[in-house]
Amino acid sequence: MSKPSPVGTVMIKAARDAGRSLARDFGEVEHLQVSRKGPADFVSNADHRAEDIIYESLTKARPGYGFLMEERGVVEGTDKSNRFIVDPLDGTLNFLHGQPHYAVSIGLEREGKLFCGVVYDVAKNEIFWAETGRGAWLDQRKLMVAGRKRIEEAVIATGTPWVGKSEGAHRRFAQEMASMTPVCAGIRRYGSAALDLAYVAAGRFDGFWERGLKPWDIAAGIVLVREAGGHVEELDGGDVQTTGNILAANEPLLPKIKDQLRHAKAFGED
Ligand code: IPD
Ligand code: CA
Ligand code: CA
Repeated sequence: MSKPSPVGTVMIKAARDAGRSLARDFGEVEHLQVSRKGPADFVSNADHRAEDIIYESLTKARPGYGFLMEERGVVEGTDKSNRFIVDPLDGTLNFLHGQPHYAVSIGLEREGKLFCGVVYDVAKNEIFWAETGRGAWLDQRKLMVAGRKRIEEAVIATGTPWVGKSEGAHRRFAQEMASMTPVCAGIRRYGSAALDLAYVAAGRFDGFWERGLKPWDIAAGIVLVREAGGHVEELDGGDVQTTGNILAANEPLLPKIKDQLRHAKAFGED
């Protein structure tokens, strides 16, 4: 059994502290569904509260480390080698609608490389963590990506473009779905990219693709997938942390999913 390093332990604690605050607020959100305005402002406050908790906890434990946070943006640190990448609430739309599938995601980049990741599924109380060289873990259980090699047997997760994304992005997604659905066992869209990647690491999903994600959506999840023996690539060959166009799967499935998505591209985009 592996244990997280001291910094991994600090990250897990910060995720749990933020998770407690989110869990309390999630209880309220369920009551607010019926109000005329809905719980949108309340959820935005919950999100900021969780980020403040993480920021305070991590700066206290590791003063000097830098941050890239979804709400706060870039916070330069005096230690230029270490940077936390934080999404305090991934799966906001689920949270807003009272659906118990949302997570805290904290990654650590060291010397420019993703080094450590924690994804905390608050509602299910599942802590997924991974560190370079220490493997990927769900609590005490070592994680490994699924062994399926045939795309026909694969359950693949994705993320849909939302309102406000370009027409081209919506069209391309429709084409990718049209290309994938006839060849795989099933597609899932659960609404938290951090958990989608954690589920690939845990072998619950055989693969995951989505375009246009942000660094805080994927930093922790990338470490999880890699340490669970899986592969992560940028869909068009670029840098995944820059474009956020991500594909994750086990080694044999990854090129098959990629080919299928390329086929979609071939039938037109703008
Ligand atoms: C979102 C979730 C979702 C993905 C979106 C993300 P948020 O993050 O990860 O699954 O499809 O692209 O923006 O807004 O809930 O932090
Ligand atoms: Ca997110
Ligand atoms: Ca978020």
